[in-house]
Amino acid sequence: MKKHTEFLVIGSGIAGLSYALKVAQYGKVIILTKTDLEKTNTSYAQGGIAAVTDRLDSYEKHIEDTLIAGAYLNDEATVRMVVKRAPEAINSLMQWGTKFDTTSDGSLDLAKEGGHSAHRILHHKDNTGFEIQRALTQQVKKHPNIEVLEHHFAIDILTQHHLGQELRRKTGGVVCYGAYALDLETDVVHTILAKNTFIATGGIGNIYQTTTNPEIATGDGIAMVYRAKGIIENMEFVQFHPTALYNANDRPSFLITEALRGAGAVLRNHKGFAFMDKYDKRASLAPRDIVARAIDNEMKLSGKNFVYLDGTSITNATWHEHFPNIYKKCKSLGIDVLRDYIPVAPAAHYLVGGIKVGHDACTTIRNLFAAGEVTSTGLHGANRLASNSLIEAIVYAEIAAENSVKKLCESEYNEAIPEWDYKGTTQTEEMILITQSHKELMQIMSNYVGIVRSDLRLERAFKRLEIIYEETESLYRRSIISKEICELRNAINISYLTIKMAMDRKKSIGLHYNIDHP
Ligand code: FAD
Ligand code: SIN
Repeated sequence: MKKHTEFLVIGSGIAGLSYALKVAQYGKVIILTKTDLEKTNTSYAQGGIAAVTDRLDSYEKHIEDTLIAGAYLNDEATVRMVVKRAPEAINSLMQWGTKFDTTSDGSLDLAKEGGHSAHRILHHKDNTGFEIQRALTQQVKKHPNIEVLEHHFAIDILTQHHLGQELRRKTGGVVCYGAYALDLETDVVHTILAKNTFIATGGIGNIYQTTTNPEIATGDGIAMVYRAKGIIENMEFVQFHPTALYNANDRPSFLITEALRGAGAVLRNHKGFAFMDKYDKRASLAPRDIVARAIDNEMKLSGKNFVYLDGTSITNATWHEHFPNIYKKCKSLGIDVLRDYIPVAPAAHYLVGGIKVGHDACTTIRNLFAAGEVTSTGLHGANRLASNSLIEAIVYAEIAAENSVKKLCESEYNEAIPEWDYKGTTQTEEMILITQSHKELMQIMSNYVGIVRSDLRLERAFKRLEIIYEETESLYRRSIISKEICELRNAINISYLTIKMAMDRKKSIGLHYNIDHP
């Protein structure tokens, strides 16, 4: 059955929900989300959201910190735009009901994180993302123009490639007309025709064995746009968070926020030595790529799977006031953070690259906008500064909303788009074929395309991936459509792009470190 909507939003994190709230007064909005509305990377964000709100801080300082972290590979115009629009975006969040922590005099309580030269991180205890998601979800649920379709999986965006040859020739350039969405409860594929489509499907953490990302992060939006012939870039820049709690039983890995190092926690090796001074004068507060590589090196030197984070100098009151969830999590594992060191190791955390968007949040496909972790805006350059992603997501969602409203009258529904073709997809394959391939994929990516890379490792990854790719394409063609087979296919697509772009970059910079090209 065909559905029609002025605005189709794919994804229900900070980017998807804030876009939906901004455009809803101009037309009907449908939000697709593949599990529950709140199951997003956004809900997991701990440290906070960066914006200049204090008179001791300045736009120029935030701009400079972002450029330094990004190794000056950033698009400076994007950096300036995001930093300057950030305070206004924070206001939107507050108006929608997000509560940020304040000091006893009522002013915002600003934290400091690695790579920031000032206290500028607004936060809500150590679960800022959860609070943002809570507030946005509440607004979305009560908006009369917004329909939320939970447990609906976007398979592919609709373009003229879905039309017959005759109609296809008449259209110049790729145009988006909506998406095919699989209802995971009924197994029916809906054809959703939209005047504007907005992709906010988040990151890719689940192509790695160890990640801080929940299971929704399989890079679906990037793979969809790649298949539709949109431009994808900077996929080699995958950020590993230096300090995920080391606990083999956790997936996703529980994050130990960088704000803890901002509050005085120090990294130590197995001999108790505070090793970060050896690697960078900013020690434990150096940018993430430097800290993650230093930890990786210390783990190789000691032969252990983790190092320690020493938060014993942090007072009991600070632990309870600012980091209650980390305190509780550690306690549940028998770690008393007031006395014991916390075992930590790096984990795949954030994708800098993705769907290329311009300063107007337009992708290279007409009527298709994107924001959030799924995009490559140029803000982060070769490495993202802590807490710059939530702010990028909301600023770009607002820009996308402004521009899609402006262009609404130029776009129309394309009734010629056919319904989903179930033909040929008749077999239910054993799930083990899919889960085993996904496991192999994660092994390849973790072993050969992780924090430290080499030409040989990348080449090996490429060859191994080719085998899984062939097997999966054949499986996809003959299987009944399912979320699992689509996610595997998407994960293979984005792994391919990550390896290929890592091979093409012949110099180590920021998050991309290749020992053959220092
Ligand atoms: P998400 O919030 O990930 O939302 C993606 C949405 O897309 C989900 O609703 C998902 O279900 C949906 N989706 C995906 N594929 C499909 C599909 N095929 N069909 C339908 N729906 C689909 N950043 C900061 O700035 N500060 C922090 O303190 C911070 N801490 C973090 C801590 C952790 C543990 C993690 C994992 C990340 C953290 N980040 C932080 C990064 C930040 O949370 C994310 O970059 C940001 O939330 C991404 O928001 P988003 O809206 O782009 O995507
Ligand atoms: C953290 O709290 O350390 C994560 C912050 C981020 O990813 O920006």
